[in-house]
Amino acid sequence: EALWLIVPAAGQGRRMGGDRPKQYLSLAGRPVLVHTLERLHRAYPRASLRLCLAPDDPWFDPAWVPFERWQRIAGGSERADSVLNALEELANRAAADDWVLVHDVARPCVHPDDLQRLLEVLAEEPVGGLLAMPVADTMKRADARGRVTATESREGLWHALTPQAFRYGLLRDALHGARERGVRVTDEASAIEALGLAPRLVPARRDNLKITHPEDLSLAARIFAVQAEEGKVPG
Ligand code: CTP
Ligand code: MG
Repeated sequence: EALWLIVPAAGQGRRMGGDRPKQYLSLAGRPVLVHTLERLHRAYPRASLRLCLAPDDPWFDPAWVPFERWQRIAGGSERADSVLNALEELANRAAADDWVLVHDVARPCVHPDDLQRLLEVLAEEPVGGLLAMPVADTMKRADARGRVTATESREGLWHALTPQAFRYGLLRDALHGARERGVRVTDEASAIEALGLAPRLVPARRDNLKITHPEDLSLAARIFAVQAEEGKVPG
């Protein structure tokens, strides 16, 4: 079985509001995208990469890609469209039961232990799964004016992280189905769930931060430092 990696990196980073998309902002001296690709490459050195980039992206440098086999894919208007474009490019290459791992370029802190554990769990999973983290805070529901209408039980609630990994044929069918029905999906797992299947949650470390807001860049730099002190991750 081949392992395919899809990294959606065609976003604009609007919430970050930088002078360029957040994947090109500097984190510990190098673009966020470089960190993310290097972590994936160290964990999955023989995988083939599909990197989704905005068609008019002036920031990307192909010298940053550490993978031997990779291709650039034109991103779409939503994250799911970018991923589906990559899946379509694989139509004549991937087998239906090949694993496809999708990982946000904006998650450079994903730990090698989690990348390894995800693959180990998948070895005994027919459907697929994703890194996830149990919710720690009390959860409130509110109206549009910010008044609490209910306190929700956090029992059984998890944060969905990436990578998310599914069999090629299943994931392609799931995302096609979502597009055809006009359902907006923000991750791969929700498209799989819409088929009536139950993705496996793989408990992840708490430091798989998605860089979203300006303060996240310095947080991510601190996470790198802590991970380097723990070992396993080069400083
Ligand atoms: N992404 C993508 N194609 C899109 C939109 C998003 O490939 N049309 C990617 C982003 O590059 C990111 C991931 O999907 O790696 C998660 O998206 P998000 O964190 O929302 O990033 P942005 O869309 O760039 O940020 P924002 O929503 O603040 O504009
Ligand atoms: Mg977005």
